[in-house]
Amino acid sequence: MKRIRVIGKQTLSGTITISGSKNSAVALVPASLLSDEIVEIDNVPNISDIEALSEILEYLGAKVNRDGTKIIIDSRNIKNIKIPEEISKKLRASYYFMGALLGKYKYVEMYFPGGCSIGERPIGLHLKGFEALGAKVIQEDNKYIVKADELKGANIYLDIASVGATINIMLAAVLATGTTIIRNAAKEPHIVNVATFLNQMGASITGAGTSEIKICGVKKLNGCFHEVVPDYIETGTYLIAGALCGNRLKIDGVIPEHVDSLISKLKEIGVPLEIGKDYIIVSKGENYKSVDIQTSVYPGFPTDLQQPFMSLLTQCNGISKVEENIFENRFMHVPYLNHMGASIAALDKVALVHGRTELRGGHVEATDLRAGASLILAALIAEGETVINKVEYVLRGYEDIIEKFQGIGAKIALEEIE
Ligand code: EPZ
Repeated sequence: MKRIRVIGKQTLSGTITISGSKNSAVALVPASLLSDEIVEIDNVPNISDIEALSEILEYLGAKVNRDGTKIIIDSRNIKNIKIPEEISKKLRASYYFMGALLGKYKYVEMYFPGGCSIGERPIGLHLKGFEALGAKVIQEDNKYIVKADELKGANIYLDIASVGATINIMLAAVLATGTTIIRNAAKEPHIVNVATFLNQMGASITGAGTSEIKICGVKKLNGCFHEVVPDYIETGTYLIAGALCGNRLKIDGVIPEHVDSLISKLKEIGVPLEIGKDYIIVSKGENYKSVDIQTSVYPGFPTDLQQPFMSLLTQCNGISKVEENIFENRFMHVPYLNHMGASIAALDKVALVHGRTELRGGHVEATDLRAGASLILAALIAEGETVINKVEYVLRGYEDIIEKFQGIGAKIALEEIE
């Protein structure tokens, strides 16, 4: 098991460069198999989720080469065989293989692990989208067979603006006969990144980034070169670190608009920010004001930043109200923050953070990716030493997080224990 040890109360300064977006890359890699030629994707983060997806592609017969931040995928000899449970259950984003294999071969057989710590995570909207395109879905426990004689364009309304369902339906519809319209589509930056990738292969997708996406089916998709957008959740995480203990910490290689909702909240709190074209400079301010947040679909406040942001709210004077509207169980970091001296009361989808409180080091545990990030942020400002156990989750989602923090002055180290 891996754990992280942090000595708090250091000042962070210097420059951090943001990596490619995890939630975009985990869709682009499976989507590559839709091409009949070789695709090259740059700015791919070096995280275990990408390794797991590359493993699935290679299992299917594709050739995957990693060259620095680039990944070159040759799916010309790919075979559409069943993806066994032991490899598809490694990560949730394996579900994008459903849309890609269905879109390309009109047949896919794979296992899909439901739920995870932050919620039940159903995929009913994905399956409804596939059925709308003419596919038949057979589910036995967590094994899915999705097949169609022909995939025909359809009008699909998503009850929830689901990121996964929006992307998966795009992947299934891109080679279908006719036009598909997805209404109430998710608008996250990674949706635009995937649509642009498919269009560069020769697809005909318009409206990505709005709530209505139109996909005109094409006959085949070619090779292309593409680049992953900067990770706006990583950007937000380091911005919060700078607000907690930064001295003109520069977050470089960012798209500031992608974190607009966070920036406006940081300004409301009183965090000193300097916003450039592709960078943001952040410092720790004084007398932070409490603020309320409600997580919602993009461009609202991202649910993935709710947990890291709560660590900052412990340093704001007054009571801050956090409403988590996307996932049903995304407050598991709260008991650990309270163990470190925070004063947070959480019930159902609301948490009240009483600040400000002095945090002290302790032994805590990462229950999920962003909870782990929240605990690292709290440890950076805590008195003394903090040990965070089960950090495998965190290492899956943040490229070189230990090295990046060490590079700006944090006293942080990764330890391997049996
Ligand atoms: C993606 O998950 C991200 N994961 C999540 O990031 C992110 O929190 C989430 O989008 C919201 O932005 C990846 O991109 C790999 P959803 P996804 O479908 O696609 C419900 C992280 O920390 N829902 O938008 O699973 C669902 O239960 C991770 O990087 C249905 O009810 O999210 C949830 O309550 C965590 N039926 C809500 O919609 C469905 O068929 C939003 O889920 C699909 C979703």
